[in-house]
Amino acid sequence: MISQKKIASSVICFLLLLLLPIAFSETTRNLKGISSRAPTVQQIRNKHGTREVIVDNGIFRVTFSSPEGLITGIRYKEIDNVLNPYLRARGYWDITWQRENILPKLDRIEGTNFRIITQNEEQVEISFSRNWNGGSDHVPLNVDKRYIIRTNTSGIYTYGIFERQPEWPEVEMGLIRVAFKLNPDRFHYMVVADNRQREMPTDDDRNIHSGHAMPLAYKEAVQLTHPHNQMFKNQVDDKYQYTCEVKDNKVHGWISTKSNVGFWLISPSSEYRSGGPVKQELTSHVGPTTLTTFISEHYVGTDMETRYKTGEAWKKVLGPVFIYLNSDSTGNNPQYSLWEDAKRQTEQEVEAWPYDFVASSDFPTRQERGTITGRLFVNDRFLTPAGSAYVGLAPPGQAGSWQTNTKGYQFWTQTNETGYFTIDNIRPGTYNLYGWVPGFIGDFTYQNLVNVAAGSEISLDRVVFQPPRNGPTLWEIGVPDRTAREYFVPEPYQNTMNPLYLNHTDKFRQYGLWQRYTELYPIHDLVYTIGVSNCSQDWFYAHVTRHIGSTYVPTTWQIVFELPYVNWRGSYTLQLALASAARASLQVRFNNEYSWPLFSTGNIGRDNAIARHGIHGAYHLYSINVPGRLLRTGTNTIYLRQSKAVGAFEGLMYDYIRLEEPSTA
Ligand SMILES: *[C@@H]1O[C@H](CO)[C@@H](O)[C@H](O)[C@H]1NC(C)=O
Ligand SMILES: *[C@@H]1O[C@H](CO)[C@@H](O)[C@H](O)[C@H]1NC(C)=O
Ligand SMILES: *[C@@H]1O[C@H](CO)[C@@H](O)[C@H](O)[C@H]1NC(C)=O
Ligand SMILES: *[C@@H]1O[C@H](CO)[C@@H](O)[C@H](O)[C@H]1NC(C)=O
Repeated sequence: MISQKKIASSVICFLLLLLLPIAFSETTRNLKGISSRAPTVQQIRNKHGTREVIVDNGIFRVTFSSPEGLITGIRYKEIDNVLNPYLRARGYWDITWQRENILPKLDRIEGTNFRIITQNEEQVEISFSRNWNGGSDHVPLNVDKRYIIRTNTSGIYTYGIFERQPEWPEVEMGLIRVAFKLNPDRFHYMVVADNRQREMPTDDDRNIHSGHAMPLAYKEAVQLTHPHNQMFKNQVDDKYQYTCEVKDNKVHGWISTKSNVGFWLISPSSEYRSGGPVKQELTSHVGPTTLTTFISEHYVGTDMETRYKTGEAWKKVLGPVFIYLNSDSTGNNPQYSLWEDAKRQTEQEVEAWPYDFVASSDFPTRQERGTITGRLFVNDRFLTPAGSAYVGLAPPGQAGSWQTNTKGYQFWTQTNETGYFTIDNIRPGTYNLYGWVPGFIGDFTYQNLVNVAAGSEISLDRVVFQPPRNGPTLWEIGVPDRTAREYFVPEPYQNTMNPLYLNHTDKFRQYGLWQRYTELYPIHDLVYTIGVSNCSQDWFYAHVTRHIGSTYVPTTWQIVFELPYVNWRGSYTLQLALASAARASLQVRFNNEYSWPLFSTGNIGRDNAIARHGIHGAYHLYSINVPGRLLRTGTNTIYLRQSKAVGAFEGLMYDYIRLEEPSTA
């Protein structure tokens, strides 16, 4: 029996639900059989007395906590909440930050002020904002989180306007992202790419306290010893196995095969990301979780420019990104149809970029942006068009500084086969034009700063990149492509395998490969003989430490080569390009393993690519002058000693090594 009191309180709740409903005339439209209408906004108090904002466009209904602006619910199709109903944090923006004398903090950027920005037949744009209160509990930033819900659009756009005043205290920001925790009862199938998709274990399968999993070398990686579903038994789970380079990170997400529903995060542009086109970021992972990362140190480390000094102002619009919901009523092979539809939708979003429906004047329209065109040549002893080269605008700085830049916008493209490039939709501002050319070492920077104004069309005509070279090549190892992909990547361990990565093209994503070095080279280190060895078989993909008992020791690799004659007075050059470095120090010696090093990198790198199953982290190039007197007629040996060995993860990846003769010019 339902008591009178309960009925009365339900009536009150119902009346509260009707508090401030702002309805629109319904323009009924159709999306795959669902009627859509102009979105309505309701501000209510829910049954717990907390304020909520509910937006409904007839396709889905999204609930925000107000004025915090956390997404607490998305009702779509027959799913009452596609987000995780068991957690408090379900859909949110967050930031990690740190200030002098204040421990690192995670801030979920809860708004203090709710506003409706736009409301019409076409769309609703709402804002949850927070101005810094001067206290040490919040990151010193003004943040305005925006959400746009459109008529006849099956998803939510979100962007954030982040701003700091110059007089505010020095602060370091490690990570800014948007995160969604999905309903674990519904979403089990994850898609990152055509060839990277699978059934996933559950969050509980990772639980080491309940005995489902065993910890591995660090907390992100566990072995699923007793998963709920036996198909995952003994597999490794680690979210870093699903990272993606920014240039490829356009759409990823989850599918509920039970409900034939997909949940996708679409990034129509990379302008708001950091670190350039090959910066790697997390995507989706066990949770079920799905993320868009705007700023992070992943695969680069603390070299990322995340520190803001007193006197330094900063403002950046992050996003919009699109949270897309789709469904397939036929129910046949949703893994295929929903992913294909998500890719189609991504193309549409890219086409529509820069969106013309964003209300903030901090987001320039297409007309308020500029274009730059040109043709890149590479001059490595002879001039050729630079095909498939990366060309981009980023804040002014040293060559390659875009790799660590998080503060400004970046606009990248690739040249076509004949070196032509067009970069469009550039925000007005002053930039350097940067680039690099696969097949060649070094970083390109155009000699002049580029000033882009609203509507400007800059034509650079012909630009020439002169890669570093001091003389003809004597020999080389690898391919200059900023990765260690072409080297020997060992087979994964049977008992810690991820079945997704058995193909040689992405075997490097397997867990634990670094341990294979000690097995392959238990006593003597790697020796590579020019003209005899083959880099895809004989050059281990990472220069790691050797594990002996409970300790780790430095390792010294040798490159052995013959010289028929030596120019004693000449100056040779060793071009040494690294694809990754993590708490490493590389010493280079010629023909005497125990001499004072000819060259040392000093302590470099925190990109952690070895532990994070990357095939590259951040790029470093060293052009090392080698006096001819250090060389011999006949057999020579270069000793490459990575001298740091605290654990398994101090190390390097080489991109490319070349010895050049003295210049003949
Ligand atoms: C609604 O959206 C769908 C899918 O994007 C599109 O095909 C359709 O034409 C739209 N309908 C209206 C009335 O705009
Ligand atoms: C490269 O782009 C230029 C300029 O748009 C165009 O004329 C040329 O045909 C393109 N070349 C190739 C191989 O696509
Ligand atoms: C390996 O991956 C490449 C590139 O994605 C693909 O072309 C090839 O068919 C794959 N091979 C196997 C054995 O799966
Ligand atoms: C090096 O090894 C790879 C893989 O085994 C092979 O395909 C290639 O032909 C070898 N290269 C040479 C020059 O022998």
